[in-house]
Amino acid sequence: MKVAVLISGRGSNLQALIDAQIKTGAEIVLVISSVEGAQGLERAAKAGIPTIVINHKDFDGRQPFDAAMTDAIEAGGADFVCLAGFMRILSDDFIAHWRNRLINIHPSLLPAYKGLNVQQRVLDAGEAQAGCTVHFVRPEMDTGPIIAQAKVPVMADDDAGSLAERILEQEHVIYPEALRLIAEGRVRIENERVLIDGAATDAPDNFA
Ligand code: GAR
Repeated sequence: MKVAVLISGRGSNLQALIDAQIKTGAEIVLVISSVEGAQGLERAAKAGIPTIVINHKDFDGRQPFDAAMTDAIEAGGADFVCLAGFMRILSDDFIAHWRNRLINIHPSLLPAYKGLNVQQRVLDAGEAQAGCTVHFVRPEMDTGPIIAQAKVPVMADDDAGSLAERILEQEHVIYPEALRLIAEGRVRIENERVLIDGAATDAPDNFA
């Protein structure tokens, strides 16, 4: 499987996917950043992966921006797309074009805590646990069939930063695992639910 990874910043999830390429069987052939100078671009370059910056400010609206990304992804030879801290909202056309070939990682136990500033909202709500989710992308933000989740505890002395770090550690585990399952052809979507090896994925950390 040949994968394009879309980033906007630090790229620690990108790094996890780069480091796991042999294990996942998903070769990263292109990294696109929506932000010039993003740290993830350096990580890709270090790994010898081609990079492109596609800045929405250079385009007249979301549609041409997304069309430029699809062109770049296809020209780069990728047939699957991973969002890894990509902070732009994608057009319905882009999402339809890449339907079931487009996944995202989000730092909450979806469907809870969609959107931004998740860790602070989890703390403000007094939650005892937090976590992360890998899911197929659908037009409504942070929705779509869930492939993998991991839970972490919320500690009494947590701030948003310490909680984010604990969640991120798990992101780096479940994102490569989810991609491996897909690359191995073990993931199917039925009635908008993910089946792994034919079984539903209700349980978090449901890896073979
Ligand atoms: C990660 O925590 C990821 O889950 C989150 O941004 C961070 C990116 O970190 N993504 C979202 O919030 C998307 N809605 P990274 O650049 O180090 O991978």
